[in-house]
Amino acid sequence: MAIILDGTAAAKRILLRIGEEISSLQIRPKLAIVFVGDNSASEIYVRNKLTRARALGIDAQLVRLTAKSTIGDILGTIERLNADPSVSGIIVQAPLPDNSMQSTVFNAIAAEKDVDGFSDRSIAKLVRGASDGFISCTPLGICELLREFGIGISGKHIVVLGRSCIVGRPLSILLSQKSENFNGTVTLCHSGTKNLASLTAMADIIVIAIGKKFFLKKHMLRPGVVVVDVGINREFDPNAGKYRIFGDADFDGIRDMCYAISPVPGGVGPMTVAMLMHNTLAAAKLQHLQADTAAL
Ligand code: GUN
Repeated sequence: MAIILDGTAAAKRILLRIGEEISSLQIRPKLAIVFVGDNSASEIYVRNKLTRARALGIDAQLVRLTAKSTIGDILGTIERLNADPSVSGIIVQAPLPDNSMQSTVFNAIAAEKDVDGFSDRSIAKLVRGASDGFISCTPLGICELLREFGIGISGKHIVVLGRSCIVGRPLSILLSQKSENFNGTVTLCHSGTKNLASLTAMADIIVIAIGKKFFLKKHMLRPGVVVVDVGINREFDPNAGKYRIFGDADFDGIRDMCYAISPVPGGVGPMTVAMLMHNTLAAAKLQHLQADTAAL
């Protein structure tokens, strides 16, 4: 019987600890979420982030901009939030209606407020192994999910499927970091990888983030593998009259072969949100400390 890597339960434990820390501190973190356009999936994710933040005592502000907003409008909004001392963390929900704006927009967020860790500066810090940068929430959430269930990374062979800038690439760097918590050996696979099944069959841990429903099948695995599924594939179910979410792994087809497997929904998703709250609290603490030091 595979261990189910229940991200909802793990996130609840982590959020409880964050909530306790916030109430014991004399600070009120504030998260600003910039949402451009009206992507229906993003609506749900943004609402979820706002709800979670407010439940913890984080002041959460939604800044909505229309899909017709220019790059100037978006950068102006970010500049205002950068300059606002009450704002601890800023995120711009991806995807933007115009994808070509993405890196300019992420890079406009002040380094000390970049709680998504998407700016070039944050990514450079991750690559260098610096301890003072923000690590993006999904890679961090995956590592915390494994840790919550006592699954070590050090010395393991981790096969990451997908090279996105949000998940696969930063995760591959994080997992291979020289530190006792990470120290993994990583193979990063993508659409150009040959003989994929021969590589996945050598993995101790597989993380899949490619956006293809039920792609990971039994013949690609060795018994006892750990599978972390980052896929969020939305499909409209006409019988239920609503969207349903499916993972990138064929959960029912492979679970008997796994030592542990994360479900979709209820696996990585809640951990991503919990890590956003973690980063927002860290940003608030850092800014509070800097304000205190400046006053001395
Ligand atoms: N879109 C999908 N995942 C994320 C995320 O972690 N942060 C932001 N800002 N947008 C996303």
